Amino acid sequence: MSKLISIEGSDGTGKTTQSLALVNNFKKHNKEAILAREPGGTNIGEILRKILKNDKNIEPLSELLLFQAARTELIEKIIFPALKSNKIVVVDRYKDSTLAYQGFGRGLDIELINLLNNISTQNLEPDLTILLDMPVEEAINRTSQRQQVSQQITETNFEDESIDFHTRVSNGFRTLAKKSDKWIIVNGSLDINQISEIIWKSVKNLFD
Ligand code: TMP
Repeated sequence: MSKLISIEGSDGTGKTTQSLALVNNFKKHNKEAILAREPGGTNIGEILRKILKNDKNIEPLSELLLFQAARTELIEKIIFPALKSNKIVVVDRYKDSTLAYQGFGRGLDIELINLLNNISTQNLEPDLTILLDMPVEEAINRTSQRQQVSQQITETNFEDESIDFHTRVSNGFRTLAKKSDKWIIVNGSLDINQISEIIWKSVKNLFD
C-alpha cells in the first residue's frame, strides 16, 4: 500500500537519522520503502541543493523558486513513480519546510508559498508528517557540533542564520503541526532508539 511520510523539523533535530531508521524498519517488516530528501534526490535537485546550501547571497524569492524547482524534479522523477509502484516513500523534508523556512523564517508570503507548493507537488499531501521538535538552542548546538566533527564549514547557508531566524522556523513548524491531525510531534531530545520506536508506532497505525 503506497504512502507518503514526511519528516520535518529544524536543522539539528535528527531528521536524517530518523528517516533512515524508518525506512530500515519498513524493510525489516518486508514493506518496500524508499528514502528521498529535499532539496535533492535527483541530478538537478542535488545541483540545486549545493547552490541553496552554499550561496549566501541569494535573493529570498530566488531561493523559494529553486526549492520549488528541486521539489518538482523529485515529485516527477522519484516520488510519483515510487507511489505508483505501491512503494512507501519517506521524505526527509517536504513542502512544510518551505512554509517554515521561507514563510515563517524569511517572511515571504504564505499564500504565495502555498500556491507554489501546490503546483510543485501537484497537490500531493503526505499521509503523515512527523515533526521532530526540540528547544532551538539544543538544535543549534547539535548542528555546530556536527560541523566541528565533520569539519563541514561549507554547508552553512541556513545553519549560520541568527537564533531569531531559527526560533521563527521552529515556532512555524509547531504552528503548522497544530493545524492538522496528519502531524505528530515527537520530542527530538529523547534517545535515538526511543524516537524511532515512537515514530514506528505512529506509522504502523497508517497500515491498520
Ligand atoms: P538538510 O537537508 O541538511 O536539512 O538541509 C536543507 C536545508 O534547506 C535546511 O537548512 C532547511 C532548508 N530548506 C528550506 O529552507 N526550504 C525548503 O523548502 C527545504 C526543503 C529546505
